[in-house]
Amino acid sequence: EAIEKGGFEHFMIKEIFEQTRSIKDCMRGRLDSQTGRLVLGGLREYVNKLVNADRIIIVACGTSWHAGLVAEYFFEEFCRIPVEVEYASEFRYRNPIIREGDVVIAISQSGETADTLAAIELAKSKGAIIFGVCNVVGSSIARTTHAGAYTHAGPEIGVASTKAFTAQLTVLNMIALIVANKKGTITEQKLHELLVEMENIPSKVEKALQLNEQIQVVAETFKDARNFLYLGRGYNFPVALEGALKLKEISYIHAEGYPAAEMKHGPIALIDEEMPVVFIATKDSSYEKIVSNIQEVKARKGRVISIVTEGDDLIPKMSEFTIEVPAVHEALMPMVSTIPLQLLSYHIAVMRGCNVDQPRNLAKSVTVE
Ligand code: G6P
Repeated sequence: EAIEKGGFEHFMIKEIFEQTRSIKDCMRGRLDSQTGRLVLGGLREYVNKLVNADRIIIVACGTSWHAGLVAEYFFEEFCRIPVEVEYASEFRYRNPIIREGDVVIAISQSGETADTLAAIELAKSKGAIIFGVCNVVGSSIARTTHAGAYTHAGPEIGVASTKAFTAQLTVLNMIALIVANKKGTITEQKLHELLVEMENIPSKVEKALQLNEQIQVVAETFKDARNFLYLGRGYNFPVALEGALKLKEISYIHAEGYPAAEMKHGPIALIDEEMPVVFIATKDSSYEKIVSNIQEVKARKGRVISIVTEGDDLIPKMSEFTIEVPAVHEALMPMVSTIPLQLLSYHIAVMRGCNVDQPRNLAKSVTVE
């Protein structure tokens, strides 16, 4: 096992550090900005179903569901197709409406999650075409879907999903860009720009991983907190959900992720001088809005930890701790802004003496209902 951990103390931290490589592996042979190559062999003849889809329904559970939420923003922005993101367990039991022209995308690291599998079977029985985004080759979900693409992140052992999440985002972005290109909802120039940005993600993830030591200091400061709030807007809203999920899964600290603006409809009541609030506040189209959300938290004496874009000189002045990530196109930022949150939850869990790779009550893959 020590050999499998490759010198790391836990699988989770090994897998967090593998992301530079796993994202690259995921794009290998599929994406090349210089030649304009963008292909996913597994989409096969069904790709036109996506191009002509009236609606995309994404079904998933857990972290994969969060990847689906990011994809919702991405598909809607670049493909102009309406997207709904469903918890597989809810979808399967409520007699969902599936019309001709609806296409389903199922996301699953293991490819064995019982609820996701059942949701697929149901959608299939109603005539839907199903695409799978799976990590485990030959898994049940990979086999039952009509078409799909593997994430190629390599085996993920830690129960808390990390590298599978960023690989899911990579694949979903590639699918969306293929569809947008065929549909003509993206200009060639914009497509090229995004392909270049995608290719640069591994080196930006690498930079984000260098924050490790700095994040240990933040972890040390807040390891005894009883609650955490994670706030983000736009593409960083699902990142907030994922950051909160990571923390509760492995450190057993109660954490909630929320869209930053929705805070005033509830969570703001929780804020006092003991409440750590993590803002994912990178420079994007909602930057000014989130700055005022930070002010609202400050006014109530909340302890602000901010994830910002390198060179930001405003938010650090309002934050007790600032973590700088490299600049990235906002639609691709989740692949980078999620890294410090993975590291934060990992270090807090280790400092609290938790079993990070096998947290209590959780399973790597939930194959029963
Ligand atoms: C379990 C795992 C999570 C995972 C979820 C969905 O809860 O602990 O890490 O996100 O299942 O699993 P899947 O394999 O379908 O992505």
